[in-house]
Amino acid sequence: MANEQRRAAHISGWGRYAPARVLTNDELSRMVDTSEEWIQQRTGILERRVAGSDETTASMSLRAARAALDVAELDPRKVQLIIVATVTPDYVFPSTACLDQDALGARSAGAFDLSAGCSGFVYALSVAADLIVAGRYDNALVIGAETLSRITDWSDRNTCVLFGDGAGALVLQANEARGGVLASVLGADGSGGDLLKLPAGGSVHPATSETVDQRQHYIHMDGREVFRFAARVLPKATRQVVEQVGLKVEDIALFVPHQANGRIIQSAVKALGIPPDRVFTNLARYGNTSSASVPMALAEAIDEGRVQKGDLIVCASFGAGLAWAATAIEWSLPLPVPEPPRWRIFWRRTLYHLARIQSWWRRLWRRADARLRRLGEGEDE
Ligand code: ACO
Repeated sequence: MANEQRRAAHISGWGRYAPARVLTNDELSRMVDTSEEWIQQRTGILERRVAGSDETTASMSLRAARAALDVAELDPRKVQLIIVATVTPDYVFPSTACLDQDALGARSAGAFDLSAGCSGFVYALSVAADLIVAGRYDNALVIGAETLSRITDWSDRNTCVLFGDGAGALVLQANEARGGVLASVLGADGSGGDLLKLPAGGSVHPATSETVDQRQHYIHMDGREVFRFAARVLPKATRQVVEQVGLKVEDIALFVPHQANGRIIQSAVKALGIPPDRVFTNLARYGNTSSASVPMALAEAIDEGRVQKGDLIVCASFGAGLAWAATAIEWSLPLPVPEPPRWRIFWRRTLYHLARIQSWWRRLWRRADARLRRLGEGEDE
């Protein structure tokens, strides 16, 4: 490949998680005024996953992260950076990344969430890779996770047929070898922000009983306009990122687009002239999982052995913002990766238990310490 780098950010681990509950088009057709045929023909989606009542963005991201750390054989205590791309964090603050940092026992890691709509994961991957290439970190855990079912209006047929829940994660590690994340293109056009938004819950319209009554805490979307925007930016960003690394669209071995709508993917692939066997889609089974869509698809493609050492992979996404992003990756690991010894998996599981105990202990200690201080202050007075 044309891109010469001294230090590169290579993918060394990947993982994905989808909740067990499957919601089919047939079930949806009994919830809103739609039909199985309409959903399948207009979107390419057959079913999607919905988080259980005990699942959240953090719990799902944790599962994907642990799977990725297992593949990378990376000790969670050595993780240096955690970025969670999401528009459905567990809380506005603390960040979901901090919840993951605590649960993983990643005591050496900085952690933050990144919000860039459905492009969040590709943005996060680009940020993490650049920080590694710059020498700031030696590894990073990059996660895309969403519980869109909690912000979906299940009475709005224009949106509820599209979205699903899930999580995907990648481990990036610094390496002097050629390859890894070669380049990224990040774009935005905030003038289109109104086309896809969650109107209330922010500082413009804080939550009130009126915002709840008006269903302002759900996704609002002008589907037709988002479609037009997506069909334009997906091929454009893909071409730009491939040119940046001195290659051509014909060199793409695997194209992993944001899984939003089969017709958007088909239109982009047609415009780019990429043969269908080089395009990965799992949209039919998961729907649009926003920030989780690209890492879930990429991890599944890798598990299926769809990439080989030296292959050029391009991931491209678009969504709320409006924002879009594309990244070019030279795959650098021989596949399949050998199964790690069972004792190492067992060791990592033990570390997660220890992390939970440590976290519990820290909370307890903080509370006890605060009480002792208050008592001490009372005696001083
Ligand atoms: N079932 C039946 N009819 C429906 C449904 C449904 N579920 N949804 C909409 N319709 C109707 C509309 O009301 C409309 O009826 P009308 O003509 O009487 O008004 C008709 O179908 C056609 O509507 P269109 O909007 O033209 O349908 P289109 O073919 O564009 O498909 C869709 C709609 C699937 C939403 C499409 O526009 C789309 O996928 N857009 C992109 C959405 C997207 O990717 N969003 C996510 C961005 S990523 C992020 O950041 C979250």
